[in-house]
Amino acid sequence: MQSQQDWLASVGRIIIVGAGGFGREVLLWARDAWPDQASKIGGFLSADAALPVPLPILGDPSDYAAEPDDGFVLAIGIPQVRRRVVSQIESRGGRFLTLIHPTAVVSPTASVGEGAVICPYAIVSDAVRLGRFTLMNYHSSLGHDASTGDYAVLSPYATLGGGAVVEEDVFLGMHASVGPGKRVGQRSKVSANSAALCDVPADSLIHGVPGHVSSLM
Ligand SMILES: CC(C)(COP(=O)(O)OP(=O)(O)OC[C@H]1O[C@@H](n2cnc3c(N)ncnc32)[C@H](O)[C@@H]1OP(=O)(O)O)[C@@H](O)C(=O)NCCC(=O)NCCS
Repeated sequence: MQSQQDWLASVGRIIIVGAGGFGREVLLWARDAWPDQASKIGGFLSADAALPVPLPILGDPSDYAAEPDDGFVLAIGIPQVRRRVVSQIESRGGRFLTLIHPTAVVSPTASVGEGAVICPYAIVSDAVRLGRFTLMNYHSSLGHDASTGDYAVLSPYATLGGGAVVEEDVFLGMHASVGPGKRVGQRSKVSANSAALCDVPADSLIHGVPGHVSSLM
């Protein structure tokens, strides 16, 4: 597949998927990351056409007909909505860009999945693996050898210790953390300011320090 740099140069229009507060932030980060391409940012997709955003809302992600030269950026923070919206757009041929803010530190030994969004001051350390559509909000960090599953969300200041793993669709609230070498199962949520310091099964809620684990099912 074409590298993102080559593809970005040929993208006709960059479209931000999600027009809430996070969508407006992603507009800022995209302008910082791609100053030469910023004039191509054409607007947002949202089911709510009345949201106050500085560029037009071009349509609803559920039925937007992607043009072959559209490049999408995922700007939705709600875990269950993110996966659905990507599948709607990809099923109509849409392709997503990976956004890495210039102030983020991303080790050259890390791998970053397509569609990921890495916000200002995030840190991706040595030998980290980032799943597709992982969201790393500002000041979040992944220690050496850590990994995230597809669609994982790290809220601002969330942290994974070295070798820690969060599986697909895991959500970490603000300042949440996962201890070194620990694994959090898919769809689990680590509450804000809480710490998962043991392995956690899928569909769990973790709250407190050390984290108390309960089932979300
Ligand atoms: C993880 C989180 C999203 C879970 O929220 P949720 O999916 O709505 O889950 P709920 O709030 O319904 O919580 C489920 C249960 O766990 C309990 N619970 C959740 N967090 C808890 C905590 N920190 N301490 C004690 N109980 C907690 C709830 O009381 C609820 O119990 P109940 O079913 O008996 O009523 C939420 O706890 C959280 O951390 N919010 C902050 C989000 C954030 O940081 N966003 C950043 C955006 S940039």
